[in-house]
Amino acid sequence: MSPARTAIALAAGVLFASAVAAQARFPVDDINKGREQFHRTCSQCHGYNMVSSGTTAYDLRRFPVDDSGRFFNSVTNGKGGMPSFKDALTPEQMKLLWAYVGSRGGKEP
Ligand code: HEC
Repeated sequence: MSPARTAIALAAGVLFASAVAAQARFPVDDINKGREQFHRTCSQCHGYNMVSSGTTAYDLRRFPVDDSGRFFNSVTNGKGGMPSFKDALTPEQMKLLWAYVGSRGGKEP
């Protein structure tokens, strides 16, 4: 194989591996359902597609993706200016929301 071809093959391998890694944590379907749920119940404070200045509500694009426990706790019990969603959302809906937020909206950190 020529060096150029080797480089292309390597790059393709890296791209493929990262695409697989991105899908490994959350199924794409869950991320998409989470996005819909997010825009029904969260975006009025946290912004469309999680885009917010972070001045009035936490900027969720910065939420630590390795801390699902903190996510579920804050959403369940509320925090500061955020209400509790204990009675408003089922555990399944919260799981879908985490797929969306925890994958940075499907982009993975
Ligand atoms: C009424 C406005 C409002 C709504 C609706 C809202 N939030 Fe929040 N959220 C906030 C505010 C304000 C904070 C900052 C709380 C603080 O740190 O004092 C916050 C913080 C957070 C945090 C970070 C908490 C932490 O551990 O620091 C997460 C995660 C979060 N919101 C997720 C969600 C999700 C998911 C939804 C939809 C189910 C949602 N929020 C709906 C206002 C809102």
